[in-house]
Amino acid sequence: MQNNTLLEERPIARTDKAVAVRTNALSKEFNGRLVLHSLDFRVDPGELVAVVGKSGCGKSTLLRLICGLDKPSSGWVEVDGERLNGLSRQARLMFQDAALLPWKSVKANVALAAPRKSLRDRVAEDALQQVGLRDRAQEWPAILSGGQRQRVALARALASDANLLLFDEPLGALDALTRLEMQSLIERLWLERRFSAILVTHDVEEAVALADRILLMEAGRVTFQTAVSLERPRDRASAEFTSLKETILERILGRHV
Ligand SMILES: Nc1ncnc2c1ncn2[C@@H]1O[C@H](COP(=O)(O)OP(=O)(O)OP(=O)(O)O)[C@@H](O)[C@H]1O
Ligand SMILES: [Mg+2]
Repeated sequence: MQNNTLLEERPIARTDKAVAVRTNALSKEFNGRLVLHSLDFRVDPGELVAVVGKSGCGKSTLLRLICGLDKPSSGWVEVDGERLNGLSRQARLMFQDAALLPWKSVKANVALAAPRKSLRDRVAEDALQQVGLRDRAQEWPAILSGGQRQRVALARALASDANLLLFDEPLGALDALTRLEMQSLIERLWLERRFSAILVTHDVEEAVALADRILLMEAGRVTFQTAVSLERPRDRASAEFTSLKETILERILGRHV
């Protein structure tokens, strides 16, 4: 844990305990239909894993089970070796809709996530600073742009001190330019704080740009995975980058040999 002196200087510091996640024969069925098939999946501490796959293959279901929003039909999730039972205290889920409370200011929205009441104000200010929105702290969420709202959601995740961030298509609704900016922001914050992360995305380029490892899911199973060993920040125009992107796209489209 951080001591108080450190907290004084910097309310949000590098996470002291990135967590390991492991799923053991994790299955989920809805109305008798299996949507996750005995999944064995792991994320090492501080690792950023991207999950790609066609719509309906089970990506969101997997994230919901990992953060404890939903219960497995069989199998289990382990966070740092402990079986998850109920909502995870370590994980924070971020999705396309920033889900801010409209009747609270930007800062209050972020402050709500901070675990220690006495530090809430400062934690919220620091988190907003990190996402470049400190000067918008007193405003209402409604007047922010979509990208800014997602940055507030990111600040809220940082303020929560979560050691595991689960991103479910968080940038899906943003325009291309804002998306690129948000991708660099996520990468920068992750490099600084080294939380463990799972990024679900339809955007293969985003996966190759950000992930340490990419998993492809098809109909509730992981059918392919690859490590991404390119140096950061990644050069999207490089031959290695485009070749990896192509390989994964071909896999998703089922055109590989
Ligand atoms: N609460 C639910 N009740 C019944 N079926 C569900 C429920 N949640 C998900 N499903 C089904 O489980 C399957 C996987 O859904 P999921 O939302 O995990 O897919 P996804 O990979 O996240 O898709 P997308 O890329 O479109 O977000 C789908 O067939 C979906 O209809
Ligand atoms: Mg989904």
